[in-house]
Amino acid sequence: MNTVIREWMETEGKKFLKEIGIKEGNKVLDFGCGEGHYTIPLAEVVGKRGIVYAIDKDAQVLTELKKIIKEKRLKNIKLINENTEIPLENNSIDVVLCYDVIHYEDKQNRKKIYEKIYRVLKFTGFFSLYPKHHKKDYPLMELAQIELEEVIGEVESMGFVLEKKLFKKCIHDDYYNKCCILNFKKKRRN
Ligand SMILES: C[S@@+](CC[C@H](N)C(=O)[O-])C[C@H]1O[C@@H](n2cnc3c(N)ncnc32)[C@H](O)[C@@H]1O
Repeated sequence: MNTVIREWMETEGKKFLKEIGIKEGNKVLDFGCGEGHYTIPLAEVVGKRGIVYAIDKDAQVLTELKKIIKEKRLKNIKLINENTEIPLENNSIDVVLCYDVIHYEDKQNRKKIYEKIYRVLKFTGFFSLYPKHHKKDYPLMELAQIELEEVIGEVESMGFVLEKKLFKKCIHDDYYNKCCILNFKKKRRN
């Protein structure tokens, strides 16, 4: 673990998560959790009364994350190895994080993911998206040709409304980045 990751896990990550709106006792889904750069500080912020469901399609990253969870003796993280599926109850989650994930997925799959997030999210909760790798932010894979405004439009077309756009220092892989975080609320569908 390099010094940036260590600092993030110990202090900066928790500060960031509180600033974006995570609260003690929250039930959080970390969709596409990877090696847990957000999962670990999330578990510490939500505390014993909260829970973090960490989903990833890659079993290997979950094995690595399991080791850190054990070292840190965290009891409030549930690892789930799934590809796009979200095996959680309807309207049961306070916050869904989906950070640096959607560039992996084409438009059809992104919409499937937003639909599943919509299903599990509470109306009182929020969906926090960090769409890294769009056209103006180190373009890559499925987002390379897509503007940030188009990403917002896609998410809103699935029943969400953009509530906040936050520019913050966050971790990307193993270094700090200036991140554009999009927080969406779930709208009622007619
Ligand atoms: C670049 S990593 C980001 C990890 C973490 N969210 C972060 O910001 O540090 C993206 C992760 O999303 C996972 N992922 C991509 N598409 C997914 C899907 N449809 N279902 C589950 N996991 C997915 C990948 O396996 C990978 O571990």
